[in-house]
Amino acid sequence: MIEYRTNVDGITPDQLEGPFFVGWPNPPSPATHLRVLDGSAHVVVAVDESNQQVVGFINAITDGVFMAFIPLLEVVPEYQGRGIGSELVRRLLELLDGFYTVDAMTDPELQPFYRHLGLEAAHGVALRDYERQSGE
Ligand SMILES: CC(C)(COP(=O)(O)OP(=O)(O)OC[C@H]1O[C@@H](n2cnc3c(N)ncnc32)[C@H](O)[C@@H]1OP(=O)(O)O)[C@@H](O)C(=O)NCCC(=O)NCCS
Repeated sequence: MIEYRTNVDGITPDQLEGPFFVGWPNPPSPATHLRVLDGSAHVVVAVDESNQQVVGFINAITDGVFMAFIPLLEVVPEYQGRGIGSELVRRLLELLDGFYTVDAMTDPELQPFYRHLGLEAAHGVALRDYERQSGE
């Protein structure tokens, strides 16, 4: 069974071995990943009750007034295709109910995934410093 939690209280880095950040050349460590989740305004994590491993997560940062941004969403490859990603988005959107904007940057091929959850395609710009990708 998958349990959904809206905080990372009691979660330790060894529960975040994933693998997460698949395909990232310079991914954050599980300890840094935990700092990212802990520092986010909102988080939803999917935990496999059988082994207590985190198998998916989503986070949001906000101005606390009317704008929210979803920086990260990921489900461990072995667990993809079971509705976990959709459930993470749905539960986060419930937490963000009442905000004027909820934005996420995504590759074009993932826009249908977000569209079926109610988010519309939009344009954006981005600045990246890949030297800092690990968060160290
Ligand atoms: C995107 C992601 C979180 C989806 O998680 P998931 O648990 O596999 O998603 P779901 O099982 O809820 O899939 C819901 C629907 O979206 C579709 N979908 C899932 N991943 C997709 C993808 N990468 N591209 C296009 N459609 C996708 C599924 O086919 C499914 O459609 P259906 O309901 O018609 O069957 C997961 O593929 C992932 O972690 N990918 C790598 C990281 C990533 O790309 N994150 C998003 C960054 S913005």
